[in-house]
Amino acid sequence: MPADRILVVDDEEPIREIVVSMLRSARYECQQAASGVEALALLNSGEEFELMLSDLMMPEMDGSTLLERIKERYPDLPVVMVTAVHDISVALQAIRDGAYDYLLKPFEREQLLATVRRALENRRLKMENRAYQTNLEALVANRTDQLRKAMSNLERSYDTTLEVLGDALDMKDAETEGHSKRVTAFTIAIARAMGLPADQIRVIARGAFLHDLGKMAIPDAILRKPGKLNQEEIAIMREHCYRGYQLLKRVTFLGEACEIVYSHQEHYDGSGYPRGLKGSEIPLGARIFSIADTLDAITSDRPYRAAQTFTAARREIYRCTSSQFDPEVVDHYRQMPDSIFEDLKKEIDSQSHRFTFSAVAKS
Ligand SMILES: [Fe+2]
Ligand SMILES: [Fe+2]
Repeated sequence: MPADRILVVDDEEPIREIVVSMLRSARYECQQAASGVEALALLNSGEEFELMLSDLMMPEMDGSTLLERIKERYPDLPVVMVTAVHDISVALQAIRDGAYDYLLKPFEREQLLATVRRALENRRLKMENRAYQTNLEALVANRTDQLRKAMSNLERSYDTTLEVLGDALDMKDAETEGHSKRVTAFTIAIARAMGLPADQIRVIARGAFLHDLGKMAIPDAILRKPGKLNQEEIAIMREHCYRGYQLLKRVTFLGEACEIVYSHQEHYDGSGYPRGLKGSEIPLGARIFSIADTLDAITSDRPYRAAQTFTAARREIYRCTSSQFDPEVVDHYRQMPDSIFEDLKKEIDSQSHRFTFSAVAKS
């Protein structure tokens, strides 16, 4: 370990010499300054010290003024004031002003060395404590960063799981190919136009994406029946809302998304199913979704009719405002040009672009 460096400041050379020789005998490295100005010049030139011993009574700049300058510019340099008995009150004041300790002249070698050791030890502890604190902050920042990455990985795997669920449904219900993805994109676009916060949009998007998951529970004979469904088949088909809700409500990270699944076939005037909810009883996400769903149904080919334009879909949505759709959500939809939805549809239907749920939810 390198020797500690001590700056000895005193206007009387014999005293400096004595102090320095005492310190050198204890293997400290010393430099001398004959005045406060000289001491500051040494420090300002870049010389570094672990401790300063300074006389109090000096011409030009006294010890108190020197102390004040040191505290301003070199707060990590401890200062021990050296003084004669008659100005002990000044020495005490110096301690209040930030000196570490004082020594009364004349002093013994052991007294000097004990004070110096204490001052240096105190400085070492302070520095160690600060380094520890800095390390701790770096450690916390590092761990927080790791945690954030882990969370975003986790969220990505959740979303991948959703995509797999959606793809599985597409395999079973080939007629709806791309349906979940398109309504999700349309729902997000309307929710954004409404200025909803990103967190809420994420929940709504997940609900929109999984809205028909309950169709997994519907027998193929009904789900894929080419002709019209009879009353009993319609009743079974309508169970898909509740079946999906039941499946998804166990997944905590989906939050309110399962409520959207449960309510996605409700109508604003209470004429929908399965619960006949009305107005604001229907979750907002489901009210947005139902416009997106109608947009997609009308602009997609069906076995019994060809796809119609987005303009035709718009007419139908306006016509069913207040009966099927929430007029407030329709007001936001009114402000959106058809091209937004046309572009989203093109993008999702083209095989060149692979849909990922998280990309749609985040972009
Ligand atoms: Fe549905
Ligand atoms: Fe659907």
